[in-house]
Amino acid sequence: MTSVPIAARESYDPIARFLHWSMALLIVLAFLLGLTIDAFPSTWKRAAMESHKAIGILLIVLLVARCGWRLTHRPPEPEASSPLLAVAARLGHAGLYVLMLVVPVIGLVYAIKRGQGLDLGLFSIPPLAAPAPRAETRPIREWHEWASYTLIALAVLHAVAALWHHTVRRDDTLRRMLPLR
Ligand code: HEM
Ligand code: HEM
Repeated sequence: MTSVPIAARESYDPIARFLHWSMALLIVLAFLLGLTIDAFPSTWKRAAMESHKAIGILLIVLLVARCGWRLTHRPPEPEASSPLLAVAARLGHAGLYVLMLVVPVIGLVYAIKRGQGLDLGLFSIPPLAAPAPRAETRPIREWHEWASYTLIALAVLHAVAALWHHTVRRDDTLRRMLPLR
């Protein structure tokens, strides 16, 4: 029988932890930028919008890497809890993965439909289509907005669950995902 190294079971590996925390940080940053775009002075608005879009594109790239890593590397066994909570955790993680893809992809579709290009710092991508009428793009913007609220709400619930494991159950669930350990 092949044996799995103990370390692989005890903790998320450094790449998984790096991807988890860098993406969590970038998601919060993209969300805050998206919400506050209109509050930026007009000279900063364009830079803020382009940063929002560039962070979102980076998140898609990181998500592809994360899915690749997740499918080829075994995560640690979940801490023993009731079967119902184990199912809830799995569903929550799956929901977070789906929303981490859906939110930026809808944003990208919206930007393309609005006739916007992308300024990715090192290079730019020109508009791929002429701007569609607002009436056609408004629902896409609303989907982008509401999907991002759902992502943040689920992430908050997920963080509360992690803190509950740490402070009430006093198990290793949070410790094994912490960046410096
Ligand atoms: C996880 C990544 C992302 C999050 C959490 C996010 C979140 C948000 C939020 C909260 C808004 C404000 C919604 C509103 O008030 O209408 C917004 C607006 C916007 N987002 Fe994103 N976004 C993400 C990725 C992207 C990507 C990848 C693109 C395009 C490449 C994009 C393009 C836009 C555009 C163009 C707007 C402005 C909508 C408008 O008011 O015209 N977003 N985003
Ligand atoms: C936008 C924010 C976040 C997202 C999208 C997110 C997403 C995820 C996902 C998809 C997983 C499943 C494991 C994987 O395959 O990577 C996970 C695991 C985990 N996350 Fe988060 N996370 C976020 C923020 C947080 C925060 C703020 C905390 C702590 C307060 C946290 C603590 C954990 C822990 C402890 C695990 C391991 C759970 C287990 O082993 O069962 N996450 N996260």
